Amino acid sequence: MNHALAKLLNIRHPLIQAPMAGGPTTPAMVAAVSNAGALGSIGAGYLTPEALERAIGEVRTASDRPFGVNLFVPGACKRDAARVAAVNAHMAEFRRELGIEAPSAIDEVAPDFEAQLEAVLVAAPALVSTTFGALTAAQVDRLQSAGCRVAGTATTVAEARHLEATGVDAIVAQGFEAGGHRGSFLDEFDRSAVGTLALVPQIVDAVSLPVIASGGIMDGRGIAAARCLGAAGVQMGTAFLATDESGAKPEHKAALPGAADTATTLTAAFSGKPARGLRNRFITAFEHHADPLPDYPEQNAWTKDIRAAAAAQHRPEFMSLWAGQAAGMARPMPTAELVATLIREARTLIPDCI
Ligand SMILES: Cc1cc2nc3c(=O)[nH]c(=O)nc-3n(C[C@H](O)[C@H](O)[C@H](O)COP(=O)(O)O)c2cc1C
Repeated sequence: MNHALAKLLNIRHPLIQAPMAGGPTTPAMVAAVSNAGALGSIGAGYLTPEALERAIGEVRTASDRPFGVNLFVPGACKRDAARVAAVNAHMAEFRRELGIEAPSAIDEVAPDFEAQLEAVLVAAPALVSTTFGALTAAQVDRLQSAGCRVAGTATTVAEARHLEATGVDAIVAQGFEAGGHRGSFLDEFDRSAVGTLALVPQIVDAVSLPVIASGGIMDGRGIAAARCLGAAGVQMGTAFLATDESGAKPEHKAALPGAADTATTLTAAFSGKPARGLRNRFITAFEHHADPLPDYPEQNAWTKDIRAAAAAQHRPEFMSLWAGQAAGMARPMPTAELVATLIREARTLIPDCI
């Protein structure tokens, strides 16, 4: 067995709880995973530097074990008032039902990435992972000099090679089954749609870095399978969404166990960037919306009021219910118990695989 990832991150079990920005990955979840000998990660993509510092402080109060922080590498976003007007007209019906008014303007559509990066450099978590793009070699070098290990997310072999050339320490191979946003950054998402079983061994063969398999892994069988494909470890998101410590909304958590294998779909409707979630009325309404959406993250900013009102009013039909294709296998239980269960299950199949 390849123990490179456990060694790299100084953890006992090469299992990473996926960073899940927007609330699901609470400091309590991150600390529980790290305390159980795996690696918890803070999904910091939407956090201001101040909120990020607070979250890191809370994790450090609850755990002295290594943990990770994840950032969104910004891409090009051309703000477009005409597209915003069209999409707001399309969403007027949702706002009417929720009893809210569209914001008159939105100044900042995302937190300042450079400021987030500076906050991470100061805090120096064990792992900094990124998605939606690649850091520059200089940024990777700065993080490594601060004592962090760096991982980038790849959805294709070309992206893995690109990330390796920037000097990262590990690659997260995100298969098409994965819940949440696609990390694709070199090509269109529909030309980067490779399943985990096909993606992992091809990336393992193409790079000389530890590869972390991600997408559709929900139990010990998935972990053992990923290790057989050559992965040095796994990153699991949807499985952790249903835990007691998860900050996912109650309606989101409740919709996971028993969901059908066909219940998820990819949609750009919530954010302007394709992401996998449980199909609901909001997503379906956009399947017949012909106008181009505002770019990510402008569209994300313009749906925020709808998602917040839907959460407050317990209306899952307007929430982003991110989930992977194996969501139905989610098991609600305390986070520490989930980690222990996953390890036990995987070791029953392959003794030292995790
Ligand atoms: C609710 C949710 C939010 C996510 N947010 C992030 C994120 O902030 N950063 C990131 O790199 N990946 C994010 N992901 C993707 C995960 O890193 C990972 O690729 C995915 O969860 C793996 O598939 P699985 O959900 O089937 O385990 C998210 C996934 C989910 C389900």
